[in-house]
Amino acid sequence: MSLKKPKVTVVGAGNVGATCAQRLIEKNISDVVLVDVIEGIPQGKSLDLMEARPVELHDRKIFGTNDYTQTKDSDVVVITAGIARKPGMSRDDLLKTNAQIVGSVTTEITKHSPNSIIIVVSNPLDVMTHLAWLKSKFPPNRVFGMAGVLDSARMRFFIAEALDVSCEDVQAMVLGGHGDQMVPLPRFSTVSGIPITELLPPHKINEINERTKNGGIEIVNHLKTGSAFYAPASSAATMVEAIVQDRKRVFPVAACLNGEYGLKDVFVGVPVKLGMNGIEQIIELKLAQEEMEALRKSADAVKQNVAKLNELALV
Ligand code: NAI
Ligand code: 2OP
Repeated sequence: MSLKKPKVTVVGAGNVGATCAQRLIEKNISDVVLVDVIEGIPQGKSLDLMEARPVELHDRKIFGTNDYTQTKDSDVVVITAGIARKPGMSRDDLLKTNAQIVGSVTTEITKHSPNSIIIVVSNPLDVMTHLAWLKSKFPPNRVFGMAGVLDSARMRFFIAEALDVSCEDVQAMVLGGHGDQMVPLPRFSTVSGIPITELLPPHKINEINERTKNGGIEIVNHLKTGSAFYAPASSAATMVEAIVQDRKRVFPVAACLNGEYGLKDVFVGVPVKLGMNGIEQIIELKLAQEEMEALRKSADAVKQNVAKLNELALV
């Protein structure tokens, strides 16, 4: 009998990467290979996490390395390598440095795991996902970005707080690029099926929309030395779980559009079905005119940054 365990590589053993690896093993989702460019960091964090096994009571393994041959034949690869924002920086300020990092990481991943599914986390998210897709030459169902799960988790939390209800009963939908022009959709956000437009006054919904859009910078301004990582790590791990357990979960994910929403050749957040084949379906919502305009505007901002990659000869 052969039982194939899913093999997941997390590249970048910093705040998001190490926490994502911890979630994956401690929630019994997969074994993990944790890779970083700095010698000792992935090894030390992995050993520390293995020593927590007898207390956390799981049998998942994590292996830290600087060597991509150890990542061979991964089923899923999560790319968190790169620099994070500090106060005063936008996600787009990270473009040049992170493009060089994500480009080189993708080349290694593609060489050692040609059949993998790549989830990009590094910012600016939609542009880095586009770059990883171009570099990998993988089909678009196997390269996508994590942002919508995080942005909608933030919105869910703010809704739950405003109504004093359990987060478990709150769903929210945030589309568009992972930037200032992301598009929270109150019409598609519910508490046990009841649209929040029935439960909250317009000014409160506007406050929630704005806080969601500024969710990343709110944390950066508190931390000062880096950006959010607990909720981002949980969000990426949940996407991995949907894939390795073929759960067919429906999340907003940065996906390559091919005519859906009237957009083409651009990665932006839209609802998709995630399973063992990666993106198994892109779900097209019937958007109102102003929602569609906001999505197009957000996609235009992503396209402008992708053009910068070309100008800087980073593709
Ligand atoms: P961090 O600085 O804690 O960790 C980044 C790690 O990447 C470091 O350990 C660094 O050594 C490593 N690294 C750098 N170059 C590398 C290379 N060539 N190969 C392998 N590893 C390399 O940063 P943090 O907080 O973990 O954030 C990582 C990235 O994720 C940032 O770009 C950040 O903006 C982004 N992010 C994206 C989110 C999203 O919603 N998509 C949410 C949170 C963070
Ligand atoms: C966030 O939204 C930094 O993009 C990251 O927290």
